[in-house]
Amino acid sequence: MKIVVIQGPNLNMLGKREQHIYGPMTLEQIHEQMRGFAEQNNVEIEFFQSNLEGEIVDRIQECMGDAQGIIINPAAYSHTSIAIRDAIAAAQLPVIEVHLTNIHAREEFRRHSMTAEVSAGVIAGVGAFGYHLAMVGMVQIMSEVAAAAQQQAQAEA
Ligand code: DQA
Repeated sequence: MKIVVIQGPNLNMLGKREQHIYGPMTLEQIHEQMRGFAEQNNVEIEFFQSNLEGEIVDRIQECMGDAQGIIINPAAYSHTSIAIRDAIAAAQLPVIEVHLTNIHAREEFRRHSMTAEVSAGVIAGVGAFGYHLAMVGMVQIMSEVAAAAQQQAQAEA
């Protein structure tokens, strides 16, 4: 089973960027923790970061038939991108959206996420720990999906 983690614009700057808002951890440090959890749970994991909307759309499309779940922080594109929203809807995979900050408690323009509307779940406002919570949630969702598929296969046999 494979999870793909997709990180949107400016998240490559974590650790340097507005630390009082986004915290001290770098993206590499966050990914290292996620890798550890994936190993403990026998899950394959891949990471992708891009500052470009179309590249994020391409990476979501590549997940189809290849991964069983996506964890995504679309960053600023959450609030603007119909293209990323459509890609998530088309992927037919469980998606958990993560935000380091509580977007609902910030500026008005951040309070709406287009991509959250097509995601299975959203975790916001618990900082980098949100990525760990997303991993726990995704492992649970993926095992439920696998168990349901197995049951269906047995019923049809
Ligand atoms: C963010 C929130 C977005 O509004 C912002 O543009 C980001 C990061 C978060 O993780 O809190 O870049 O997605």
